[in-house]
Amino acid sequence: AISCSIDSHYRRPSYTPNHIPDPKYIRIFDTTLRDGEQSPGATMTTEEKLDIAKQLAKLGVDIIEAGFPASSAADLEAVKLIASEVGTAVDEDGYVPVICGLARCNKRDIDLSWEAVRGALRPRIHTFIATSRIHMEDKLKMTKEVVVEKARSMVAYARSLGCDDVEFSPEDAGRSDKEFLYKILGEVIKAGATTLNIPDTVGCTVPHEFGQLIADIKANTPGIENVIISTHCQNDLGLSTANTLAGACAGARQVEVTINGIGERAGNAAFEEVVMAIKCRGEVLNGLYTGINTKHLVMTSKMVEEYSGLALQRHKAVVGQNAFAHESGIHQDGMLKNTLTYEFISAEDIGLHRTDKSGIVLGKLSGRHALGAKLSELGYDIDGKELDDLFWRFKAIAQHKKNVTDDDLMALVSDEVFQP
Ligand code: KIV
Repeated sequence: AISCSIDSHYRRPSYTPNHIPDPKYIRIFDTTLRDGEQSPGATMTTEEKLDIAKQLAKLGVDIIEAGFPASSAADLEAVKLIASEVGTAVDEDGYVPVICGLARCNKRDIDLSWEAVRGALRPRIHTFIATSRIHMEDKLKMTKEVVVEKARSMVAYARSLGCDDVEFSPEDAGRSDKEFLYKILGEVIKAGATTLNIPDTVGCTVPHEFGQLIADIKANTPGIENVIISTHCQNDLGLSTANTLAGACAGARQVEVTINGIGERAGNAAFEEVVMAIKCRGEVLNGLYTGINTKHLVMTSKMVEEYSGLALQRHKAVVGQNAFAHESGIHQDGMLKNTLTYEFISAEDIGLHRTDKSGIVLGKLSGRHALGAKLSELGYDIDGKELDDLFWRFKAIAQHKKNVTDDDLMALVSDEVFQP
């Protein structure tokens, strides 16, 4: 059976901006603190952002996009602090995350981004400009020629400041003309870009289409073999994780994600989904792997939920409250016999510590077997006719309650035992 095994060995190739020595390695670029914070209502304090950045470093994130320094004085200060504290803390294996700041294609943004990240051991400037017809004509009011020139000259300007790690994004690439993309990307490579990020800014693509876009860029952009291709998939159609994986299979070696999938509108590709899919199904994803220590996922998810104020839906994949809970009788019976029957991801592997190893939640669909198991966990030794009687009384209560709690069960047992 397919199941996600626990491994304690995290491989991570050495870091060079435009080259990864192992072709199967996927860099994780976390943008919780930038794109994630752009979610309506998700503003975080500097201290909260620093805490999250430290937690991302514990996870082993390759690149932390810490903010958009030109957007506010507070963001500039937060990125600076993260660069100096998290971006200089080298661990015993030599790991230290890259700290990245976003910038539009203008000198002021790039200067502020450089000022913010330069205190890190591995600083990166990420600059972007839109390339779709609708964005260029209706938003930027610029011709294609002006857009190419701005992109080229601003990448060159970022390099001239002394930053050897420069990422470029053609915003709205998912709706851009492909020939134009090959041209602008070829120009920024010549100007010194080291990572080319391909955003599906409005989340309109479907997996085979996004995969094909990455494959076409890889095949047709001059000089592409000298840089890293990246994905950035928004979730407007709920396809961001699938699109990200399709992009990785087509040759992207960096994926941009956020914890809990937070981000503009319907959010971004969720970190935990992309990382666990690669970890658990790497064999059908061209053998790809990441350097993430997944044991910190649950803790990080809770921290981001609390600090961003964006409540996690209960059935959210991987980290939602229901993701490892079982209420129906058939599933509970299976879980009590072998947890792999209904869970292929290991709870311990994502750092979920359940008091009840089989994740049983008692409700109106639960079976006799699960009730007996729960009672024995609570210290009651009840079986045979006594358990049958209790089971029907339990069912009567469960019809009217969303969940039957341990207190309900204890009350039920004492009623039964002390009945006149
Ligand atoms: O969604 C987007 O296009 C972006 C870019 C700045 C990468 O966030």
